[in-house]
Order: sequence, then structure tokens, then C-alpha cells
Amino acid sequence: MKFQKPPGTQDVLPGSAELWQFVEQTARELCRRYHYREIRTPMFESTELFQRGVGETTDIVEKEMYTFEDRGGRSMTLRPEGTAGVVRAYVENKLYGEPDIAKLYYIGPMFRYERAQAGRYRQFHQFGVEAIGSADPALDAEVIALGYSFYKAVGLKDVAVEINSVGTPQVRAAFREKLLDFLTPMKESLCKDCQSRMERNPLRVLDCKVDQAKFEGAPSILDSLDEECSAHFARVRECLDAMKIPYSINPRLVRGLDYYTHTAFEYKAQGIGSIDTVGGGGRYNGLVADIGGEDRPGVGLGIGLERTLLLLEKQGAGPVSGPAVDVYFIAMGERAEREAPGIVQRLREAGLAVERDYQGRKTKAQFKAADRIGARFAAILGDEELDKSEIALKDLASQEQRNVPLAGLADSIRNLITTEKGIVTNDA
Ligand code: HAM
Repeated sequence: MKFQKPPGTQDVLPGSAELWQFVEQTARELCRRYHYREIRTPMFESTELFQRGVGETTDIVEKEMYTFEDRGGRSMTLRPEGTAGVVRAYVENKLYGEPDIAKLYYIGPMFRYERAQAGRYRQFHQFGVEAIGSADPALDAEVIALGYSFYKAVGLKDVAVEINSVGTPQVRAAFREKLLDFLTPMKESLCKDCQSRMERNPLRVLDCKVDQAKFEGAPSILDSLDEECSAHFARVRECLDAMKIPYSINPRLVRGLDYYTHTAFEYKAQGIGSIDTVGGGGRYNGLVADIGGEDRPGVGLGIGLERTLLLLEKQGAGPVSGPAVDVYFIAMGERAEREAPGIVQRLREAGLAVERDYQGRKTKAQFKAADRIGARFAAILGDEELDKSEIALKDLASQEQRNVPLAGLADSIRNLITTEKGIVTNDA
């Protein structure tokens, strides 16, 4: 019997795991600079949370959720996105009681039953941030800037920021009517997706790639914004200008989740087939109240990590090297073998990265292994060294070797590492 990973999932093997770590560390470092603190919420939540939070008529809720009944008969769903769970945690833990707004971030897997292809998976990972408790448009700009800085910091080139305002629910309801007036006469000529979207969520019709050409002359939501929405949007743009974040306004940008109000934005990049959105987010002023909390405004973003990594690899990001090994320990002879576990353990406890042989390889093969993994030093222990309570240390770059006392070995190695010179012999 041969097992295979489920469709739409990936194994991250050593080699690419280091690139993942680099991207995740970059995200964490940015969150430190922008003062977002980590939150970890469950991988599954009650199905109703996503129905209410993400929206009943979205593709996600209608056809993409991993929903199951647990043994207690409750309907549970693997989280398809991070916002609903974070907002649930915000409400449940009464974070609105804090004097400061909640600025939270998360990195983790999300699950959507989508048609798997490059850049689209059933288990994928998001880096997301949520800032809850302020309606200040400067906060929208901060979130947009954080995402933009993330792509820059990981080294991704040519990521474009698109922004729009989707207004308030009232603004949207009025715009919906105008849009339907425009779309209805052409309904028969539109693709099947568009036709069904017209009924459920006409704003998303404008997003359709197939029918794009037909929408020239379609009304723009930006012309339907009320004064408050326009002022909010103008201030977001002002802040982005001040931050020197390049962006373009896309009045047809509509996100696939229902909770957005005012600002909606996406990060776009070419290189993964027909997929061009690598991240997105927006403001969600009604969501906290919608899922039973006090009425608090929020704004956030979600960045797809697989898409980020795919593009990084496409753009030729070099492999990130594996973890550095400080010492490769080589025991020669039975006595040394007996000492090996204790010495290796002490070095590791002292904070050094140490590897040794567990395959009974000859000394020469062990030296080769040390080179292969890029060890800085080989520590060689034989009877001769043991008799003198010493150990031979070989700098594998310079090939220079000398004996040092076994006592205080970790310190000796650390001194050599910090002098950056490797082993300097007495007559050097
Ligand atoms: P979203 O646009 O659904 O937003 O997802 C954000 C990002 O996750 C996408 O731009 C994409 O990079 C990645 N993504 C989504 N689905 C897949 C998939 N099947 N395979 C690979 N990557 C995928 C949200 O999820 C919102 N929660 C973002 C947000 C946070 N808005 C406010 N706060």
C-alpha cells in the first residue's frame, strides 16, 4: 500500500523549509516593528462563525469549507481564513476592554476545498494581521504599508498595490441597484459565473476575467460613495502618499469575503499562471458586532505564503542555507565512542550546534560528512587525546588543527568562533 498526500496539500522538505522559516521570520520581524503581537487561534471553529463572519453567499462558505460533525454532534469547520477566528477570540477574551487597540498577527494553515493548481491549494498558509478598535484611515494605510514592506523585505520584485473603497452596506445597496440596471440588459451574454453572481453578489461580477471587456462604462462604486466614505478613502490615500507606498486605484476591486467596508486592497504580482493576487485585505467595521461582540471597527490583511514562495523561487531567490553546524564530533576507537554521547550532549547544552556519526562510518567518511553539512570544526577524539584529556580541533575551512583541553571545550570553541579567525597557531 502506497500513501500519497491529499490533493492540494504540500510536503515542505528540508531545503525549502529554510525558505519558509526566512519568510516567517521576516513577517515576525515586521510585526515587531509595526507593533503587532502574535495571536494563535484554533484550526477549527464552529461552522456558524464562518457563515456569519465570511458571509453566506461567498464562494468560501458556499462551496469551499471543510465542514464536519464532531462526535458531540456539533458542526465544525477547518478555518478557511484567519479573520473570523481572531475576531471571535477578540470578543470572547474581551480584548476591547484594553485601553489600546488590539494589533494582532498570525501565521498558519488555512483550508479551502478549491480546485488545486500551482498557487491554489486546499491547505495553504497565511500571514495575517488584524487591527481592531480604531476607524482611523491612517490605520488602513499602516496595514497596507506593512504588507507592502513584507514583500519588499522578503525580496519579491514588482508587487503592485491596488486599492478601492467598497463603502458602507448602505452605499453598497444603492450601488448594487445602479449596477444591476447596467448588467441586466446584458445578462444573457455573460458567463455562467457572472449570471449566478448577479443574483447573489452583483459587485463581484465586475471582478470576472472572462467578461471584463463588457464592463466598460459600468458604474463605478467610487461615484456612489457618500461624504464619509469619500473622506475616509481620501485620507487613506494621503497617508499612503506620505509613506511613499505606490498604489493604483481599482474601482472594480471587490474581495471574495463579505465583511469589508470602506477600504479594500490587494497585492498583485505576475508569474503564477492566471493567479495574480498574492495578498489582500481591508476594513471590516461591522464584523465584530456581526459575530456578537461590541461594535468595534477593524482592518487587516492576509498574505498567501505559498504564492509568495512560488514567486520568490521564480524570481530566482537563492536557496537559504541550512542551519549552521558548529562542530562535527568524530570518535576514533572504543574509548572515545564511550565518551562521545556525554561530550556531544555537554556541547549542545552549552549552546553549540553539534552533529556526529550514527552510521558506523570510517573516519574519512565522517570528515566528508562534516564537509557536506558545512560544519565549522571537526572535534576528533582518539586514545592519544583521551590520555592527555585533550581533543583535536580542526578548522575545516583552513584545515588547521590543534589540541585543546577537554575541560572547557565549549568555551574554547566559542572563542574560536567569535574571533572569526578560526584556529590561529602559535607561530602564526
Ligand atoms: P483572501 O483574499 O481570501 O483574504 O486570502 C488572502 C490570501 O491568501 C490570498 O491573496 C492568497 O494569497 C492566499 N490564498 C487564499 N486562498 C488560497 C488558496 N486556496 N491557496 C493558496 N493561497 C490562497 C482573507 O483570507 C482575509 N482573511 C484577509 C483579511 C484579513 N482581511 C482582513 N483581515
